[in-house]
Amino acid sequence: MIQTISNYAGQSVTLNGWLYNKRGSGKIQFLQIRDGTGFIQAVMSRQDVTEAEFEAAASLPQESSLKITGLVKQDDRAPFCGYELQVTGFEVVSRSEEYPISKKEHGDAFLMDNRHLWLRSMRQHTILRIRASIVKAVRDYFDDNNFLLVDSPIFTPNACEGTSTLFETEWFDKRKAYLSQSGQLYQEAACMAFGRSYCFGPTFRAEKSKTRRHLNEFWMVEPEVAFIDLEGDISLAEDFLCHVIERVLNLHEKDLTQILERDLNILKNTRKPFPRLHYLDAVKKIQELGMEIELGGDFGAPHETELTKLYDRPLVVTHFPSAIKAFYMKKDPENPTYAKCMDILAPEGYGEIIGGGEREDNLDLLLAEIKKHGLNQADFEWFLDLRRYGSCPHAGFGMGIERCVAWVCGLHHVRETIPFARTLDRLSP
Ligand code: 4AD
Ligand code: MG
Repeated sequence: MIQTISNYAGQSVTLNGWLYNKRGSGKIQFLQIRDGTGFIQAVMSRQDVTEAEFEAAASLPQESSLKITGLVKQDDRAPFCGYELQVTGFEVVSRSEEYPISKKEHGDAFLMDNRHLWLRSMRQHTILRIRASIVKAVRDYFDDNNFLLVDSPIFTPNACEGTSTLFETEWFDKRKAYLSQSGQLYQEAACMAFGRSYCFGPTFRAEKSKTRRHLNEFWMVEPEVAFIDLEGDISLAEDFLCHVIERVLNLHEKDLTQILERDLNILKNTRKPFPRLHYLDAVKKIQELGMEIELGGDFGAPHETELTKLYDRPLVVTHFPSAIKAFYMKKDPENPTYAKCMDILAPEGYGEIIGGGEREDNLDLLLAEIKKHGLNQADFEWFLDLRRYGSCPHAGFGMGIERCVAWVCGLHHVRETIPFARTLDRLSP
């Protein structure tokens, strides 16, 4: 494997892989090989291989699969990995047809149509490896901090985040079922059973938005903790996010700077505590920036972008108006117009990456909210039981992995952060 090639310096190895690119002359071929774990330059001199092998390599189209043998040589100047392969043997496994993704510029739609092939490019390869590292850092954080992984179901009988963004399906001939918008309600049951729990799975929103931050299917991690309040929730989210960013920087600094050309200054600034703003102060600041915003209304992407430009690290906005938030949010007892909730906004215009807060733990207040939101109480009886049997203050949050990856990698659009994006206009490949 190219990933472990440094263990084989001075030895002869055989790699299975694909031809990423090549250049050369009648005497020497520089073959860029990828095997999925990395990229390496293989140097093939005419005198070191048979005539047939040299000709096969010289005429081989990009992305043909191959088997290549050679001597591993350490060379600081070697591209990609600091090692080079001096070729002694070469075999074509399957000659590629003309590869659709060439070196020339392609439009976004073309690349997304060819996502099954585009994944092979060095840039996409890097992004998805960083995504995998973020997922592992997320899981490790909760596993190492006494949270129990409790998977939430995907088919649900009710809405969690508002009825307007539900994907609906038939549950046999019995009733309608919905794809989960969030695993939170089940985590509330889990935290009452296990104290601290989390789920991490796909979630679905039937939003018709075409923004660069929205997917119709995305992956969300959702911790939930019994006996903590909003304050405890914010500290947890800060600690968690700092851990994730630190891990990515440790593992991928070179990938980020060299391949994705990411400026790391702000990422390196992600240290707690994060600055905090009450919703009312955030609105004031947005107005001072000369932007229009209605008091009581939600932030739009431009508001978030301009507001976060004022800070050099993620920003926590708390106490949004209850009226624009989900039914389960706990109202601030000191001013019930506002909810004990928080959003963490990433800097550099990436907007909300975490949303969460304290949950309404009072049965009567929760019942009133269910009615007010026009939800069917019968579907929530199990959820209401959590308030009937040993209710307690509890809080949690959700982080969309794709928004986090987009920010870390400095990507314009979330569609590149997930292997196969699902958006309003795309269900394929
Ligand atoms: O703010 P949201 O809607 O909150 C919830 O779903 C809560 N139930 C979470 C909880 O408290 N357990 O979504 C949480 C996060 C957002 O901050 C964002 O990162 C991501 O999920 N997200 C999306 N990511 C991509 N595409 C979308 N359409 C998203 N909607 C939310
Ligand atoms: Mg939100």
